[in-house]
Amino acid sequence: MNSHISLRRLVAATAVAYAVNAASLSDNCTTTSEVDSVSLEDICTTAYAQSVLPDTDSYPGITIDSTSVTTSIVTNSSVSSEWYPASTIEYCNVTFAYSHNGIKDDIVHVTYWVPSPDSFQNRYVSTGGGGLAINSGSEYIPSGIIVGAVSGITDGGFGSFDTDWDAVFLLANGTINWQSVYMFGYQAHRELATVGKELTRNFFNMSGSTKLYSYYQGCSEGGREGWSQVQRFADQFDGAAIGAPAFRYGQQQVNHLIGNVVEQTLGYYPPPCELEKVMNLTIAACDPMDGLADGIISRSDLCKLKFDLDSTIGEAYSCAATEAGVDSSDAPQTQGSPAQNGTVTAEAIAVVSAYLDGIHNSEGERVYLSYQPGAEFDDTATQFDPETGAWGPSISGLGGEWVGRFLELRDTNTLSTLDNVTYDTLEEWMKLGMQRYYDSLQTTYPDLSDFEAAGGKVIHVHGEQDFSIPTASSVRYYESVRGVMYGGLGFNESVAALDGFYRLYLVPGAGHCSTNGYQPGGPWPQTTLQAVIKWVEDGVEPDTLGGTGNIDTICRWPLRPLWSGNGTSFDCVYHQESIDTWSYALDAYSVPLY
Ligand SMILES: *[C@@H]1O[C@H](CO)[C@@H](O)[C@H](O)[C@H]1NC(C)=O
Ligand SMILES: *[C@@H]1O[C@H](CO)[C@@H](O)[C@H](O)[C@H]1NC(C)=O
Ligand SMILES: *[C@@H]1O[C@H](CO)[C@@H](O)[C@H](O)[C@H]1NC(C)=O
Ligand SMILES: *[C@@H]1O[C@H](CO)[C@@H](O)[C@H](O)[C@H]1NC(C)=O
Ligand SMILES: *[C@@H]1O[C@H](CO)[C@@H](O)[C@H](O)[C@H]1NC(C)=O
Ligand SMILES: *[C@@H]1O[C@H](CO)[C@@H](O)[C@H](O)[C@H]1NC(C)=O
Ligand SMILES: *[C@@H]1O[C@H](CO)[C@@H](O)[C@H](O)[C@H]1NC(C)=O
Ligand SMILES: *[C@@H]1O[C@H](CO)[C@@H](O)[C@H](O)[C@H]1NC(C)=O
Ligand SMILES: *[C@@H]1O[C@H](CO)[C@@H](O)[C@H](O)[C@H]1NC(C)=O
Ligand SMILES: *[C@@H]1O[C@H](CO)[C@@H](O)[C@H](O)[C@H]1NC(C)=O
Repeated sequence: MNSHISLRRLVAATAVAYAVNAASLSDNCTTTSEVDSVSLEDICTTAYAQSVLPDTDSYPGITIDSTSVTTSIVTNSSVSSEWYPASTIEYCNVTFAYSHNGIKDDIVHVTYWVPSPDSFQNRYVSTGGGGLAINSGSEYIPSGIIVGAVSGITDGGFGSFDTDWDAVFLLANGTINWQSVYMFGYQAHRELATVGKELTRNFFNMSGSTKLYSYYQGCSEGGREGWSQVQRFADQFDGAAIGAPAFRYGQQQVNHLIGNVVEQTLGYYPPPCELEKVMNLTIAACDPMDGLADGIISRSDLCKLKFDLDSTIGEAYSCAATEAGVDSSDAPQTQGSPAQNGTVTAEAIAVVSAYLDGIHNSEGERVYLSYQPGAEFDDTATQFDPETGAWGPSISGLGGEWVGRFLELRDTNTLSTLDNVTYDTLEEWMKLGMQRYYDSLQTTYPDLSDFEAAGGKVIHVHGEQDFSIPTASSVRYYESVRGVMYGGLGFNESVAALDGFYRLYLVPGAGHCSTNGYQPGGPWPQTTLQAVIKWVEDGVEPDTLGGTGNIDTICRWPLRPLWSGNGTSFDCVYHQESIDTWSYALDAYSVPLY
C-alpha cells in the first residue's frame, strides 16, 4: 500500500532543480523552458499522482490507499458563481482515499483539483460544505484553480461526496457515531488541508524552502468549518475567506425553530403572503435610511432604530395561488397554497416583532439573538392545511432534524410536531446542544492569538439580510474575539488591533451567502479569496471589499455605509447608536456565550 513512498523520495531528490516560484517563472522565459514544458497532461496521470502522495508520516494516524488514486483532465470548463469571477478553467481532477488506522471499515475520500504547471501560483485552497454536507461538490472548488492553487474537498468519511453527515451520525438509535462528529466538526478539514498541502508540494516539486501559501474558502456550514480550523490550527492556513458561519452551533440549529414556536405561542400562523408583504414594506421604508433609495437596505441597524413595524398593519396584500412543488430551501416540499388576500394584521406584526426580537425564556432572560429587519422570513414558514382550511407550522428541516436526530438521537429527518414546545424548551435544547458538542461543533473559541502570531488573516463576510444565520451572530463572535484578545484596550484601539488580522464585512441587502432577489442590484463580495491573498502575500489591507451589483464598496465593521448628497457621496461611518443595536445581552446563560 505504501510502495509510493520510495518513488516519492526519488522524485524529491530531483526536485531541487525545479524549486522555483512559479509566479516569478512566468516573467522569466530564459531559464524556464524546461519547467514550462511540463504540461498538465504530463502530470495528470495515475502513476504521477501516486508518486507524489504524501508520506505516511505527514499525518500520523492515517494510511493513504495509493491503489485508489484516479486522475482525469478537465479542460475548457466554464464556471461561474457569486464566490469567484466567471472563468474558463482546466485542471487535473485527482481523487484518492485514506483510512484512519485502527478504525474498522473506515474510508475517507478526497478530491484535489490541480492547476496546470504554468498557472500554479504556489497556493493551496481548502473549500467547505453547507447544511449537513461537508463539501459543496464542484460549487466552490473552482475558486482555487482560478487563483492558481491546488484546491480540495473531502467527503468526511461519510461514504461518498454526496453523502451528508446525518446519514452516518447514528450507529443505532441512541448511539452516536462520535468519529463522524469529530470528522464533521473539524478533523476531516484538518486532514484535507494537511494532506492537500503536502500533495501540492510534491506535485510541483516544491523545495522545502519555497513558501506554499494556503487558504480556505467556505460559507454557512462551510464558514463554520473554516473557523474550526483557524481556531485550532494556527499555522494551517495563511488566510481564510469565511462567509456567514453556522457557528455557535448549539444555538444556531435550534434557532431555526423559533419562528414556528413564536407562532404557536402567540396562536397565529401568518399566510406567507402576509409576511412577504411585511418584508416588502420594511424594505421600502428602510431602504432610504442609508441615504440612497436604491431598493437595498444597507443599514438594517437604522431600520431597527427607526422603523415602526406597526405602521404596516392594515396594508393590503394579495398573492396568487401556487402549485405544489419542491422548495430549494430546507423545507423539503412546498404544499400548494390558495390565493391569499387580506390586510396585514396586528397578530402578524406581533409574530414578526417577537421573531425579530429573538427568544426570551419564561424568566424574561434573553436566550438568543435574531435576524435583521428586512430579511426574508424563512424560519417562520407556514403551510396550508386543505383539510382544515387553516395555516399551520412548516417545521424547519435543519431545526427539526437537529432536535430529532442530533439531540434526541432518533433516526429521523424531522420533528413531526412542536406541540408543547415552549421558549423554555428551545432554551433547554440550545444548552443541551452547546454542552454535548462544545468541543466539536460550537466553534466559537474566541482566542485567536496563535493564529495572529502565525501571521494568518481572516476576511469574514455576512449578508446584512441573512435569513438563515442571523447577521448579529457574526458580529457577536467578532466582538467576543475583540473582548477576549484586547479586553484591556478601548473600543477603537481594540478594533484597530483586530484589524491587523481579522476583519468583518456586512454585505448590504445580501441574503444567506448570496445576493437577495428582493433587493436586486445589491452586492456580493465575489473576490473575497483574492482579497485575502493580496492581504497575505502583498500586505494589501482590505479597508473595504469590492462588490458585484450596484454597490462597489462594502464597509468593514464597525463602520457602516452612509450616502449623502442624494447618492453622490459615500462613506463608511462610525455610529455608536447603530453599533449598539447589534449587541445582545444573553443573560439566560451563566457561562460566557462567545
Ligand atoms: C530570471 O533569471 C535570471 C537569471 O537566472 C535571474 O537573475 C532573475 O532573477 C530571474 N528573474 C525572475 C523574475 O525570476
Ligand atoms: C470550449 O467550450 C465552449 C463552450 O462550451 C466551446 O464553444 C469551445 O469550442 C470550447 N473550446 C475548446 C478549445 O474546446
Ligand atoms: C473527478 O473524478 C472522480 C473520480 O473519477 C469523479 O467521480 C468526479 O466526477 C470527477 N469530477 C470532475 C469535476 O471531473
Ligand atoms: C517534478 O519532477 C519530476 C521528476 O523530475 C518530473 O517528472 C515532473 O514533471 C516534475 N513536475 C513538475 C510539475 O514540474
Ligand atoms: C414583494 O415584492 C416582490 C418584488 O420584490 C414582489 O414580486 C412580490 O409580489 C411582493 N409581495 C407581496 C406580497 O406584495
Ligand atoms: C385575490 O388575489 C388574487 C391574486 O392576486 C386576485 O386576482 C383577486 O382579485 C383577489 N381577490 C380579492 C377578492 O381581492
Ligand atoms: C429509531 O428511531 C426512529 C425515529 O424515532 C424510529 O422510527 C425507528 O423505529 C427506530 N428504530 C429502532 C430500531 O428502534
Ligand atoms: C402535550 O402535552 C399534553 C398534556 O400534557 C399531552 O397530553 C400531549 O401528549 C403532549 N403532546 C406531545 C406531542 O407530547
Ligand atoms: C471611535 O472613533 C470614532 C472616530 O472614528 C469616534 O467617533 C468614536 O467616538 C470612537 N469611539 C469610541 C468608543 O471611542
Ligand atoms: C435624487 O436622485 C434621483 C435620481 O437621480 C432623483 O430622481 C431624485 O429626485 C433626487 N432626489 C433629490 C431629493 O434630489
